[in-house]
Amino acid sequence: MKELKRRILEDGRVIGTDILKVDHFLNHQIDPVLMQTIGNKFADIFKKDQVSKVITIESSGIAPALMTGLALKVPVIFARKKKPVTLNEGSLATEIVSFTKHVRNTVYIEKDMLQTGDRVLIIDDFLANGEASLGLARLIEMAGAEVAGVGIVIEKSFQEGRRRLDHAGYRVCSLARIASLGNGKVEFVDK
Ligand code: G4P
Repeated sequence: MKELKRRILEDGRVIGTDILKVDHFLNHQIDPVLMQTIGNKFADIFKKDQVSKVITIESSGIAPALMTGLALKVPVIFARKKKPVTLNEGSLATEIVSFTKHVRNTVYIEKDMLQTGDRVLIIDDFLANGEASLGLARLIEMAGAEVAGVGIVIEKSFQEGRRRLDHAGYRVCSLARIASLGNGKVEFVDK
C-alpha cells in the first residue's frame, strides 16, 4: 500500500537493526484517516472470504482492526492481556511469548464471543515472530471457529512470523513488507 509505505519512510524511525518506531500514526498517536484507508484495503482484500468477525490483541491492533470491521460491517473482538474481573470463568486463554518485549502474556477472550461456523479475520499492527497471530489462531480454533485470513499492517519479513504463518497454512496479506532495517534505513520487499 503506497500511502502506508510513504508514511513509514516519512515518519518511521529505525531503532537498532530490527525495530521500527511508528508512534506518530500507529502505536501511540493514531492517524484515523490512514487507519480508515487501511481498514478499507483489508476489507477489499478479504471481501470474498465470508468474514463474520475480526479479532486482534490489545492495544495497537485495535485501531486497524476496528476500521476493518467497520468496512466489512462485522463485530471486532480484541483479546485481552489481563484477565478482567468481568470475564466469565469459561474464558479461552493461550500464552504468547513476546520476543521483542521479553515477556510472556496470557491472552483471553470470553468463550461466547466466537461460535462454531464463525470465520474470523486476524488483524494486527506488526508481524515479527508471529506469536500474536498464532496465539489468536489458537483461540479461534479452540472456540471451534475458523481462521479466514491474517491481515498485517507492517510485516518485518526478515523475522520468522511470515514463514511460520505460511507454514501453518493461513492466508497472510501484509500492507507493507519490510525486507531490512539495516543502517537506520527501511528497505521494502517490493519497491
Ligand atoms: P510477534 O507477535 O509477531 O511474535 O511479535 P513480538 O512478540 O516480537 O512483538 C511483541 C510486541 O512488539 C507487539 O506489540 C508487536 O506489535 C510489537 N512489535 C514487534 N516489532 C515491532 C516493531 O518493529 N516496531 C514496533 N513499534 N512494535 C513492534 P504488543 O506487545 O502487543 O504491544 P501493543 O500492541 O500493546 O503496542
